[in-house]
Amino acid sequence: METFEIELESFLKTILPIPELYEFLLIAQNLSKKRGEFLYFAGGVVRDYLLKTLYKKKIEKPKDLDLVLQGNLKNFLEELLKKVKGEILFESQFLTYKVKIYLNGKEFLIDFITARKEIYEDIAKLPKVFPSDFKDDILRRDFTINTLIIGLSPPYKGILIDLINGKKDLERGLIKPLHLNSFVDDPTRIFRGIRYKVRFSFKFAEEFFLALEKCFKKEALKKLSATRIANELRLYLNKEPEEKLKELLETTFYLNIFEEAGIKVKKKNFNSLIELLSELRDELNIKEREKFFLLGLLNSQFLEQALRLGFTEFELKEIKKNIDFINKKYLKDWKKLSLWEKIKVFEKIPPFYLLALAIYFPEIKEEVIKYFKEYKKIKPELTGNDLKNLGIKKGKEIGELLDLLKRKRIEGEIKTKEEEKDLVIQFLLKKSEN
Ligand code: CTP
Repeated sequence: METFEIELESFLKTILPIPELYEFLLIAQNLSKKRGEFLYFAGGVVRDYLLKTLYKKKIEKPKDLDLVLQGNLKNFLEELLKKVKGEILFESQFLTYKVKIYLNGKEFLIDFITARKEIYEDIAKLPKVFPSDFKDDILRRDFTINTLIIGLSPPYKGILIDLINGKKDLERGLIKPLHLNSFVDDPTRIFRGIRYKVRFSFKFAEEFFLALEKCFKKEALKKLSATRIANELRLYLNKEPEEKLKELLETTFYLNIFEEAGIKVKKKNFNSLIELLSELRDELNIKEREKFFLLGLLNSQFLEQALRLGFTEFELKEIKKNIDFINKKYLKDWKKLSLWEKIKVFEKIPPFYLLALAIYFPEIKEEVIKYFKEYKKIKPELTGNDLKNLGIKKGKEIGELLDLLKRKRIEGEIKTKEEEKDLVIQFLLKKSEN
């Protein structure tokens, strides 16, 4: 075990997202000292601090802080929350607590973790956890670069502890699992390793490939649940910079991870998928974006595999139904359809399915993009009420007229409210002639 002294105050000032947290940490530090329980920072926050200060990498401030206590965390938090305004929001089966604290009118979330040992009894299943000391807590982790800890209270206050050469691997830019069974225990670590490699432009250590081989042999990725696979892939989309998405997907593909997890993806889709995600960033909500991302990865010949990405049987049926709808009825004459007819087809398909179709059928891609960015937003200026005031009475007729106004706008035939009114008047005249 190697130890290094660090400037605790400067460490805290570098990592803390808001200065008010400094006061909070002083209280937590004093409490752990009084109780004789060792409190420390671990994981991403320490790794990123070292990358920033020692190796001058450009790293964003951490979004979450992982504070670990070697001791009775529940009692510790109860005592802490008598001194600081806050509440426990969530207690997990893994001896962790999400805590909300209030500082000068601001709210802040902190993850508190009990130093623990993990025992994996089943391949790719969640582990059993037991409270333990900081050494076991280090040894349960995914990669050597995540094993560094910085002590906040005695006996290691202001000390960086490097139990297994994590600092050296950080320096060399190596993604190395702690042991060769690591991905059999928890195959989600493969996705995490890929994210770290791509995020920091690091390299995989030899041990990464050896652990991967072992994981493939035991078919551990096949045993990983669909929910957990989908969660990991969503992190590619939500946690990593957009410009890294292609490399993340390609790395996963070349390492044969998708195939081993029982998912047939189509590498040729990656470019369109990334293009559409970026073009339509503001047009989809987060849930639609995630679903589109996952569906868009798939090879449309093997859509049942959507089940491996957490889609339900019902959703799978809907995907197939929409594919049949557009494929059988429209695609063979797609070029002959008018713009309006195409829009009518698009309107019948829910957004994320439509986008997935734009990937599976490249001939509709450009129009789908335009549909989301332009056509979908075009609306007549006249409202249903305006039409009523102009003398249209029946609900059905109002609907048809609004549709006609929209169509004329999309086709560029009318541009102003006045022109819309003229069209309605013509409609009324024609009707009275009949
Ligand atoms: N961890 C692990 N195995 C997992 C998930 C997490 O060993 N399957 C450990 C890692 O040591 C990691 C820590 O738990 O450092 C915290 O996990 P998380 O917050 O997801 O990652 P960070 O290290 O904070 O990294 P980042 O948020 O920057 O991705």
